[in-house]
Amino acid sequence: MFKKLAITAVTALALSGTGVLANGSIHTESVDFSFEGPFGTFDQNQLQRGLQVYTEVCSACHGLKFVPIRTLGDEGGPNLPADQVRAYAKQFDIYDAEKDEDVPRKPSDFFPTSADPNAPDLSLMAKARKGYEGPYGTGLNQLFRGIGGPEHIVSILNGYTGEEKEEAGTTFYENHAFPGGWISMPPPLFGEDVEFAGGHSNELEHEAIDVAAFLMWTAEPKMMARQHTGFIAVILLTLLSVLLYLTNKKLWAPVKRKAKEAMNS
Ligand code: HEC
Repeated sequence: MFKKLAITAVTALALSGTGVLANGSIHTESVDFSFEGPFGTFDQNQLQRGLQVYTEVCSACHGLKFVPIRTLGDEGGPNLPADQVRAYAKQFDIYDAEKDEDVPRKPSDFFPTSADPNAPDLSLMAKARKGYEGPYGTGLNQLFRGIGGPEHIVSILNGYTGEEKEEAGTTFYENHAFPGGWISMPPPLFGEDVEFAGGHSNELEHEAIDVAAFLMWTAEPKMMARQHTGFIAVILLTLLSVLLYLTNKKLWAPVKRKAKEAMNS
């Protein structure tokens, strides 16, 4: 039993370095995100850059219908000042039934739904997809490296080979990271698609990582709070265990002493 476990663990570790899934055909890149690990935090500047990539490129097709625009001002999120959040909301229209016309959105409104009906909503995408699995269905890779949702998004954006084919009137683009190898999303990023403030690198790789981090935030905006609560809970439970252990010792001490005396006499 132990030997089997040990072999599985060793294989898992050996495989985890390569980022290749069990079936060997899908490639997920390994990315060190700031929010990974028990003390991970979202990088506010990165979220703002990701928001920019989403707004200028992805929003042409993809919606974020579960995300309230006001959360862009949240601490622990992109943390935009209130006036910028208001200005951001205004660029999207929404139908007002009372006035029977389209009016600009307010921060209390949600992001729009997908403009392209074939493009899935991206609000929860970073948690709906997994980049890692296996080896051999054990899930050990996920245990050690996380589910890999944001890594999957980075890999898709970087995974185009340039090959395309047409099937039943739809164009498919070859992509190493997409199950099946062909995706119907045309390559959205080529590098230098957006101009970041402060001259931050806008190479394809960086744009992809920034937008993936932003989508991780939309999928789990309260991750930091959850991790911190979890950490405090672990400390308190550890403390409680120590106290219980000491109490237990103290309570049983007289009984044990008596038992010892009885044995000695
Ligand atoms: C021209 C429209 C268009 C644009 C622009 C676009 N997408 Fe897509 N995207 C699609 C379509 C269509 C699909 C569905 C592909 C499929 O299932 O074959 C898709 C699918 C996806 C998926 C899901 C992949 C999966 O595993 O199912 C992700 C993630 C994604 N897009 C991210 C992005 C990001 C990030 C951007 C911006 C950098 C972006 N897309 C820009 C049309 C677009």
